[in-house]
Amino acid sequence: MNTQNKILLGIGFFVGIMLLVLWIVINEPVRMEVFTQQWNGRSVERGAELYLNNCSSCHGQDALGLAGVAPALRNPYLFLEENPARIAKAGLDALIKEKGDLESALQNFESNAQQLAEKQKELEAAPEDKKAEIQKEIDSLNAAIRLFGDRAETEKKISDLTNQIAEKQAELDGLKALGWDETRKVRLKEMDWKGTLDGYLRSTLVSGRPLSIYYGWPGAMPAWGEQAGGPLRQDEIENLVKFLMDYQDLSLKLTPNDIRQDFKLPAEKGASAEADKVVIGENADIMALDLTGGNAETGSTLYTKYACAGCHSTPGGAAYSFAPTAGTFTRVENVRLKDAALEGYTPAQYLAESILYPNKYIVPGGTAGVMPQLFATQLSIEELRDILAYIETYK
Ligand code: HEC
Ligand code: HEC
Repeated sequence: MNTQNKILLGIGFFVGIMLLVLWIVINEPVRMEVFTQQWNGRSVERGAELYLNNCSSCHGQDALGLAGVAPALRNPYLFLEENPARIAKAGLDALIKEKGDLESALQNFESNAQQLAEKQKELEAAPEDKKAEIQKEIDSLNAAIRLFGDRAETEKKISDLTNQIAEKQAELDGLKALGWDETRKVRLKEMDWKGTLDGYLRSTLVSGRPLSIYYGWPGAMPAWGEQAGGPLRQDEIENLVKFLMDYQDLSLKLTPNDIRQDFKLPAEKGASAEADKVVIGENADIMALDLTGGNAETGSTLYTKYACAGCHSTPGGAAYSFAPTAGTFTRVENVRLKDAALEGYTPAQYLAESILYPNKYIVPGGTAGVMPQLFATQLSIEELRDILAYIETYK
């Protein structure tokens, strides 16, 4: 091989190696992405398992929420940037305003034209020394009329706008029929959260919502993060966040009518007064409580406020089929108290125990732990009496 060929061969090798390096560099991000996807996939799977074990009892196996218990997490309000009904409503308002402006321009045009005719007559009859003043008024009326533009064009625009308004209204009505509420903001805006959605989920999961019971939830969203005294490690929280974020595509296809329970707005007022309430507590002696003198009407409000009605009075509720509100008192006297395990109880004592310490006696057909275990830490004795008075109206 002569020197020239050796040089050519050397260049050939060099170019080949450079091409190989280039190929690896180009493909590296793809490999990284495949790896990340696989890793995310496993994380979502682990999150799904954690969800079934820890969250589904309140939020539902399908994450569409449980009526009266906890909100849907596959909730379009959580994933959307903006509520479509609010967008449609804003569009409608803008069209109505545009039409109103044109209509008043049209009206002003008529009255300006009329005034102009009058002023012109006035000008003819006026003495010389008044003419300049009147001419000035005529000029300004002329200017206003010129500003208005073409009359036929304006009328055409108004009639186009009338059609557009009808279309927008129909669009809004259609959205409302699917459950969208034009007065509601999407969840992150409603909660005034400035960060990202996964940050919102992470922070809610770690710390829970200890005050949820003061705005109508039967049990608070627990704190799950170790750092807040909860049972889950940071990596488990991350898996759950990934799992919930994975609902994005599915959630965006849902409408509010598809979910079983929506979010509630935290109460601003009254929460602190509620927090000062003296509750019955976890170790009350049922047999020693004075359970008389409640007000059934207040009890009825409380029955809704503490979401009892969602499980006991609503078809499909968790206790409706075997412990419906209707007939509770008769059922207690004629069936429950015949059970030897409840010997010595009065109906009121049995009911009080069922509410405060539900797992002490599980009714046939019921499952332990479904009835919230927190009412002893939420109800005052007055509230319990009112609820009992209300239940006693259901003979
Ligand atoms: C004891 C019932 C209960 C359990 C168990 C529970 N949650 Fe909740 N969760 C709630 C309630 C009630 C709310 C509504 C709280 C509020 O609005 O203050 C809530 C709210 C949330 C929210 C915030 C939604 C929002 O925007 O208001 C997220 C996210 C959430 N839960 C995720 C989870 C996950 C994940 C788990 C399992 C690790 C879980 N929850 C377990 C009752 C529960
Ligand atoms: C998440 C659903 C749920 C909510 C909310 C709920 N319950 Fe229950 N409740 C149940 C279930 C399930 C049972 C049956 C299991 C048992 O015995 O604990 C039950 C049992 C009872 C019983 C015994 C009924 C009988 O036929 O013997 C009473 C009384 C009762 N609940 C009252 C209430 C009151 C009052 C509230 C609100 C303060 C309430 N429940 C909220 C699910 C619920």
